[in-house]
This record gives sequence, structure tokens and C-alpha cells, in this order.
Amino acid sequence: MKKTIVTLCALAISMSALAQTPVYLDEAKPIEERVKDALGRMTLEEKVAMCHAQSKFSSPGVPRLGIPELWMSDGPHGVREEIQWGSWSNAAWTNDSCTAFPALTCLAATWNPQMAALYGKTVGEEARFREKDILLGPGVNIYRTPLNGRNFEYMGEDPYLASRMVVPYVQELQKNGVAACVKHYALNNQEKQRWNVDVRVSERAMREIYLPAFRAAVQEGGAWSIMGAYNKILGTHACHNDLTLNRILKGEWGFDGVVVSDWAGTHDTREAAMNGLDIEMGTDQRPDKGISQKNFRAQDCYLADDYLQMLRRGEVSEEALNDKAARILRLIFRTAMNTRKPFGNMDYEAHSRVARTIGGEGIVLMQNDPIPVPPKGMSIRYFIPIDVWEAPLLPIDPARYDKILVVGDNATRRLCMGGGSSELKVQHETSVLTAMKAKYGDKISYAKGYQAGKTMYGSVEEVKQSVVDQLRHEAVEAAREADLIVFVGGLNKNRFQDCEDGDRQSYDLPFGQNELLREMLDVNPRIVTVLVSGNAVRIPYPDRMPAILQSWYIGSELGPTVVDVLSGEVNPSGKLPFSFPARLEDCGAHAFGEIGYPGDGVKVEYREDVLVGYRWHDTKKTPALYPFGHGLSYTTFAYSKPALSAKTMTGEGTLTLTLSVTNTGECTGKEVVQLYIGDDKATVLRPVKELKGFQKLSLAPGESREVTFTITPDMLKYWSEEAHDWVSEPGRFTAYVGSSSTDIRGKVKFTLAPL
Ligand code: BGC
Repeated sequence: MKKTIVTLCALAISMSALAQTPVYLDEAKPIEERVKDALGRMTLEEKVAMCHAQSKFSSPGVPRLGIPELWMSDGPHGVREEIQWGSWSNAAWTNDSCTAFPALTCLAATWNPQMAALYGKTVGEEARFREKDILLGPGVNIYRTPLNGRNFEYMGEDPYLASRMVVPYVQELQKNGVAACVKHYALNNQEKQRWNVDVRVSERAMREIYLPAFRAAVQEGGAWSIMGAYNKILGTHACHNDLTLNRILKGEWGFDGVVVSDWAGTHDTREAAMNGLDIEMGTDQRPDKGISQKNFRAQDCYLADDYLQMLRRGEVSEEALNDKAARILRLIFRTAMNTRKPFGNMDYEAHSRVARTIGGEGIVLMQNDPIPVPPKGMSIRYFIPIDVWEAPLLPIDPARYDKILVVGDNATRRLCMGGGSSELKVQHETSVLTAMKAKYGDKISYAKGYQAGKTMYGSVEEVKQSVVDQLRHEAVEAAREADLIVFVGGLNKNRFQDCEDGDRQSYDLPFGQNELLREMLDVNPRIVTVLVSGNAVRIPYPDRMPAILQSWYIGSELGPTVVDVLSGEVNPSGKLPFSFPARLEDCGAHAFGEIGYPGDGVKVEYREDVLVGYRWHDTKKTPALYPFGHGLSYTTFAYSKPALSAKTMTGEGTLTLTLSVTNTGECTGKEVVQLYIGDDKATVLRPVKELKGFQKLSLAPGESREVTFTITPDMLKYWSEEAHDWVSEPGRFTAYVGSSSTDIRGKVKFTLAPL
């Protein structure tokens, strides 16, 4: 409504100018001309006003010129409910429920950029319908430790995978006239002490691991905005950091969009003025001025009155202010003032189908070992497990099982709420239990098994030991009688689980799930474990748990999507976007004591350097329990030997690697063929191998397909601290082709010739 008034006002202004449309209002004119024109008409005060929030989720335009406000919403898994003007409370609207899409870890696990495109397009339609100009997401911080409470909002541990997935998300989202706000730039890899922890990282690790996905989002995706992170980077807060914002983002990468601060991530007027911040959001406390209220007031922002005074006194440059205002105008022309954008829609049914499709491609079958079960079609009632009949539990063959017991708090819990700013008020959310009943009817019974306490900001309610024991006891007794058990556990969105502003306090499954699993396994081995989480957890009994499904947070369609995979309606094809270490100590970030994580209270040192995730496991020869890129299928795939177009790469030439992949099983399935490259001998420490390409193929039984990868000179480079540039060293390299980072099906060596 507000926007309509402002637009009408703009119209009136343009009409009063009698046929002479001001350049900035003329959409036929190039955007840069319009920016220049508008800027020339604005006062100092109007420019400053644009640089900070007016409410919790909006920043002002220039009412005098008919330039509208910018309205923002979280992001990234759906469009958040409306929040009050000046506080974090919800606005109690009745028409702001949304579709919750799978969490970004799940999207990354699809290893399918087409799914990212579909995601961006669809969430963008909802954002547009809700009249948002900026959607606060997607997030591409690298998964450094499984304890990070916000990993579920990101795209895993590998910069190449995250880059390939973020680009289509951003492009398709923005086609709706809604800006992506890629977050949290940069090095926001833990929530513990997130407001101030100073990340000490080498420039090489920053360039090779932590920045590439942001760079891809900006340079290839064309992101219109980016959000500064809470933490410090090499001594300065990320929201006003000269190195990362001015020099790298706006300088080297040529970013022409807007840097938005994270909410209350701004700490200093001069730095904010000069070090690359454009819009300050969320500031509701000013320790430097003794302001400690929790409600937002525009005038308290660092880039409000104080900024104006400093500009008037000539203490900070007006050129930098003009640059900010120009960027904000450009963003407004691209979004709020773009009259050619589509209308968007809230087609829940269509959007739920999209959520289910993406979820179905992202769920990862981690384990599906054969165990004694009756022959196909025979009920377990007539089966004596003394013979050699073995089969995997999944997909569920309903003829074998009359009594299917669903166990677990997560089988019924509402998981779209909680977790912090990404929480969603959903139009519907279907649980696993509901979907199991819909699929298998009377065969289904339920035992809760464990209970997660309620969570309140700052604390978590403990569940009484007597309740824990009682629930476990009931589930174990029911398990004894069941033919098949589907245990739905994992983490949830409670504080200190998968939730912002705090990290997990243990790598173990919480709420007594280990004990529950052990006791159930003692009485019945036929347990399918469904893990709901955005993080790796310690798998308590890997040798005794026959079937494990990593099912993420799927959103509105959690239940039906999980049941699609359990039942075999959908053949799983997700691959892990991060490693599942057997123990926390096996993870690079945890190999150096507290200084490596969570830090000493002031700083955290990234001592594992470029060896993040599988790069660490491979190079240090401490294999993960389930490696990066791992994921099983209900069918099997055979790979031919890879062949290279030449044995030597010269100059700027490329090599072509080809192989064929065949579906050797009995059902149609999708395989992600992964290409890794390693420098066999280098003068600096390099990971054994790094992901450089992947392709997802759908193959019918017996079908073969040729896969081609182009190996480019850039794929062989590392960031040299000495040269301050990307360099490659001539010599031998190996190309590895595999079904995961450890299931390598073929290798081929080649030489990079000296220049
Ligand atoms: C989060 C951001 C979010 C913002 C607005 C912050 O606390 O870190 O990711 O977009 O709040 O809700």
C-alpha cells in the first residue's frame, strides 16, 4: 500500500513536469544514467537517511522524489512472517504464512544446479508476492565444524559445490525483481561468540576456501546485495572491513550492489562510513552512547545523525556517501522501482511440489546394509532368521512387515519454527508420522522414545530423568514386538542444536538418543534411522545400524518427502555436502585445541588452513565415517576407465576427460559423477585432491551415458601468498573420478607443461 502511494507520488511528480519525465523515473534510460540523475537531486540528509534502517526490516527511500523504500525479509528457506516495525515480535498478520523449502544443506546435497534454479525461482515468487525487495539469503559460509549452529543454512564444506549451487539460486530469484542478499560475508563459521570473535585466517585459506562461493554469487550470479557478517576478520568487524568489502568485494570483484549489515553488526560510524558498508540494519544498542534499548530507533544507527555530523564537519568523505547512495538507488531501480517485474504468487500446491522434488533429490542414503529379512513378499511372521537370506531394509517392502513402529520426537515435531531468523510460519507442515500413516495405514504405530525439552531464548528446558526413562522404556518394549522400526531422530531447531546465536555443545546425538538406539538395537536389529539435522552427528553404532538416511530439514513437505524415499517412490540420489567424521577430533577445526575452535575468547585461529572437510581427512589420512560426496542409491552404477584428450596441458589449453557410466541395477536412478584434481608434487602444502566438477545423470536400468569434463588451467591453481595471485606449478597432476570423495572409480595422470 505504502509503495503504491509512493509510486503514485512519483507519477504525480513526473506529470507535473509536463511530459518531461525526469531521467531517474524513465525506465527506458540506462540504469546508470538514472542513478546519476537521482543522486544529483538529493540532499545530504536524504542520502544519509538511505544508509540506515527505518524499521526492523526496511530502509527509507526518498519520499520527496517518489523513490520508495526497500523492504526485506529472511530468507533463505522461505519468506519469514511479518515482524513489527520496531521490535522482533511478530506482527500477527494472518496472511503471511509461506511454503518452507528444504534447508540449504539439503539443496547442496542434491548436487543439482537445476534444483537450485528451481528453488530460487519459487522462493522468489513468494517473496515478490509478499512485496519484498530483498530476500536475506542464500547463505554460503563454509562448513568448518559440525558444531556450528547455522550450518543448516549454508551449502556445505566445499567452495566449488557451494559456488555451483548458489549461482542459479541467485539468478532465478532475482528474475522476480527481488534481490538476493548473500550472507554472511565472510568467515562466519561459528555462532559461539559470533558478535566479536576475530577470525585469524591465512589469505590463502580465505581465497581458496571461504570466499569463492561469495565471489561466484557476485560475479556469475550477479547478486544485487550481500550481508556483512557479525564476526571480525583479521581485527576488524566484517560489516565494515576495508579488506573484504572495499578491496576484494567492490574492488577486485567489481560488485556494484549494496552491502547490508547483519542486524546489529555495525559498531563504529567512521569505519561504517569508510569501509564499505552501505545500509546499516538492526542497530538497537549503542554501548558507546549508553543506549541499551532492545527496540529499534532509526536515529540511534551509526550511519544516522552521527554520520551526518561527521560529514558536515568534513571528517568523512562525501564521495564515499555518494557511492553508498548510488548503490542503494541502483538496487531500488532493480527491485522496488522495477515496474516490469512479475507479480509473484503464493501457489502453495505448486510450491509444495517443488519443495518435495528438491527434498527428494537431497535426502542422502548413507547406509543400507543387507541384514536377515524374509525373501521379497514374504511376511516376517513366517521367517526364521537362521538361513542366509539377507536384504537391505530400504526401500520398505510392505509385504514383509505387518507392524511398522515409528519412533522419535522428530517424527511429530514441527521443525519449521525455531532455529533463529530462518524460522518460518508455514501454510502447512506434514510430519513423518502423518505421512507414514497415509502410506502404510494400520501397520503404523508410534512411540515417542525421547523428548527434546522446550527452548527459550538463552536457555533450554531439561527433561526430567523419569520422563526420559519412561519414554525409552515404552519405545524399547514396542520395538521388541515390531517387524520394522523407523527411528526419526537427529537434532532440532532448539537453542544449542541447529540454531543461531549458539553452537552445539556436543557432537553426539542429543536427548538420550544414543541410549535409546542401543536398547532398541538390542531387541530388534531391523531399524531404519532417519536423521533430521543440518549437521553431522556422531553415529553411535555404525556397525549395528543397518540403514541410515540423512534427511535434513525438508520444510513443509518433510514427511511425504522422507516417505517417498523410504518407500522407494523416489530413488535416493543425494550426496553429502560435508563429511561425517567418526569423532569430532578427526575434523581439522578441532585438531588444534581451543584456539582452533571456539577460540580464546578474542580470536579463533584457522590453523587447519586450506585443509577443511575432506581436504583434511584425505591429506591427514583420517578418513571420515561417511565422506564428502557419499550417498547410496537403490540401484548401482558402473564407471568405465576415464580417458583424457591429451597427456599434457600446455599454455591456456584445456583437456577433456571422458568416461561412461552405466546403471547396473534394477531401477532408474541418478548418480552424481564427481571429478577431483590433485597436484602430485607441489612446493606448498596442497590437499590430496579437490572437487573441480560434477554431473548428475539419470539412468534407466542398463542405460549408459558418456560424461565429459573440461579441465581448465584455473582448476590447477592455488593462491600464492607470495605472488598474491592464483598460480599453478608445472608437473604431474591426477584427475580422480568417483562416486564420492573416497569411492574413486578411476584415475588418470597428466602433466602441466612449463610456460
Ligand atoms: C541473522 C541474519 C538475518 C538477520 C535478520 C540476524 O541475526 O544473522 O541472518 O538475516 O538477523 O533477521
